[in-house]
Order: sequence, then C-alpha cells, then structure tokens
Amino acid sequence: MKIIGTGSAMPSMSVTNDMLSQFLDTSDDWITTRTGIKQRRIITNETLKDLAVTASQKALDNAGIAATDLDFILCSNVINNYVTPALSCIIQGGIDATCPCIDLNGACSGFIYALDIASAYLETGRAENVLIVCAEQPTRLVNWSERNTCVLFGDGAAAVVVSKGDNLKSLLLTTQCKVDALYYQRKMEFNPYVRQSDGDMPLVMNGKDVFKLAVSSSISDIKTVLAKAELDENDISYFLLHQANMRILDSIKDYFKQTEEKFPHNIEKYGNTSSASIPILLDEMNGNNQLHKGDYLLLSAFGAGFTSGACIIQW
Ligand code: ACO
Repeated sequence: MKIIGTGSAMPSMSVTNDMLSQFLDTSDDWITTRTGIKQRRIITNETLKDLAVTASQKALDNAGIAATDLDFILCSNVINNYVTPALSCIIQGGIDATCPCIDLNGACSGFIYALDIASAYLETGRAENVLIVCAEQPTRLVNWSERNTCVLFGDGAAAVVVSKGDNLKSLLLTTQCKVDALYYQRKMEFNPYVRQSDGDMPLVMNGKDVFKLAVSSSISDIKTVLAKAELDENDISYFLLHQANMRILDSIKDYFKQTEEKFPHNIEKYGNTSSASIPILLDEMNGNNQLHKGDYLLLSAFGAGFTSGACIIQW
C-alpha cells in the first residue's frame, strides 16, 4: 500500500479558549497548560458531509485520479446525523463515485483501522484505489456544561487515497474492552415490548484512565511496529500521533528520547478531532512539502474501546 493523495477540510468557525470561558468555569491558562489546545473548529454553517466531500475531492485531486477510479470507500466516523445509511454512502454521492462504501467506528484509532482494511483489499487484489475519509464531529457528543470534556474536542475531516505499493512497512491493531474509560450512549426508540428509557447520555470520560491507557498503548504499539519493520526510533522522520492532548504527545516523545520537531502537532489549532486528527496533520505536512520521498512516518492512535493502532509508512 502507498498513500497517493491527501486532503482535508475544516469548519470555518474557530472557537478560542477565551470564548469558552464566557459560558464555562474554565480559562485559557487551564486548557493550554493541561492540554495544549488554544482553539478548535466547530461545525456551524457547513455540514459534516460538506467537509467530508471537500476533503475527499482534494485527496482525489492530489492523487490525480477520478472518483470513478475508486474501488472502495471507507469512512471512519463516530457520530453524524444518520445512523443509517452510512456516511460513506452520502459521501459517495457527493463526489460522484460508484464503488461500494462502508463506515467503520474505531473511535480515535479509526484511521489506522481503515488503513489496515484498505491494505488487505489492495493485497488481495480486490481493489486498486481506496478512499479513506475520516469525518468527525465530536463537538456533538459532549455535554457543553462539562468542562472536563467539552474543551477537548473539535470537528474536521480529512481523506487519503491509497493504492498498490510497498510503502506500508508494518501495522498493528489492538483492542481491549474498557468501556467505562470513555463512552457515549445514544437513545434507542421504544418498541411495544421495551418501554424503559435507556441510554442517551453525553460522552462520559475518565480523563486520567484515558491518559494512562493512551500513553501506555501508544508506547507499546510504537515499539512493536518498529520491531516488526526492523527499524528503531531514530530511523523515523516523523511520529504522527493522535492529537488528543499535548501532554500525552510529550510523554511519548520523552519516552523515546526524540526531538520536538519529530513530533509535529496541530492540536493547538484544532483540538481533538478524533480519527480525523492524524490525516489532517498528514495533509497539512504534505501541503507544506514537509514530507520527502523515503521518509519513514510512524502513525499511532488510541481511543474509545479501548482501541489503539500504529503503523509505519514510507513516504
Ligand atoms: N477548566 C478548569 N478546570 C478544570 C477543567 C477545565 N476545563 N476541567 C477540569 N478541571 C478541574 C477539575 O474539576 C479538577 O478540579 P478539582 O481539583 O477542584 O477537583 C482539576 O481541574 C483537575 O482535574 P483533573 O481531571 O485531575 O485534571 P487532569 O490534569 O487529569 O487533566 C484532562 C484533565 C485534560 C481531561 C486529562 O486527564 C486528559 O487529557 N486525559 C486524556 C483525555 C483525552 O485525551 N480524551 C480525549 C478523548 S479520548 C481520545 O482521544 C483517546
């Protein structure tokens, strides 16, 4: 597998920490010190579909292929207006593609899970070109009166086109059932036999547990994918980590004794955009010509489940 195109699209509305402190008992100082986040984008006038379609079209343009050249579309998403059909079906119409589509929910690790599925399709010859779109709107998951969760998130979308190649050097997925650390229950409709009310509560997060799980799983995954690829941390040009919290990124960077330049971040601008965070960062770096042919990129993500995944891709 190789990545042949990237694209991203962000909501126009930018919300600073100071704006949040107008209705929440919080401060720019607290949020910056504890998370590294200075602002986040929030979907207001546009829709998640608009962002996903724009990101996908940019990725196709960057790859130099048409939507009709796609053999499969995978959309990583946690929440959108539709429970069914899948968001990928809606995106398919937006870009005028004709191939089969499916959504997956791997929470914040969704991009790595999607890369794994795409690579399996490419390896078995079932596809030549796969579009992966990560479209996320976590600002509609949280309770906006709970300061420990709502300040963390932002909305956004990013896409990559992957094609046949030899650039995926190793990939690892892990899942441990730890629902209590991070979950969101939606309201189910009643039926004639079930009348009790259940579910329907905003995101519940045990921040300290998530922090520890994130650091430990990412470090372990990074070690494993390095060993599988017969590389060490100094061979990696950039570590593209899920943008959840600057302190999580710093802990992992310090563990591997790497420089700040090798751990690029944009959490200060966008907050935690769930599975879209790594492809948004990848697209920014691609757009800025920061990535050079032959560079080893190590991607590592973690999220609700608890899911985690990492991979090494040669640019
Ligand atoms: N503003 C001001 N004070 C706050 C805020 C806020 N936004 N949020 C919490 N506090 C207060 C708490 O009430 C608490 O006050 P108290 O001491 O009077 O009780 C104090 O700050 C410390 O709270 P802690 O929860 O201990 O703060 P901590 O240092 O653990 O930071 C945080 C909290 C930022 C959530 C951290 O635990 C974290 O980042 N965890 C990881 C969570 C994460 O990344 N989630 C993203 C989703 S999942 C994913 O992407 C993998």
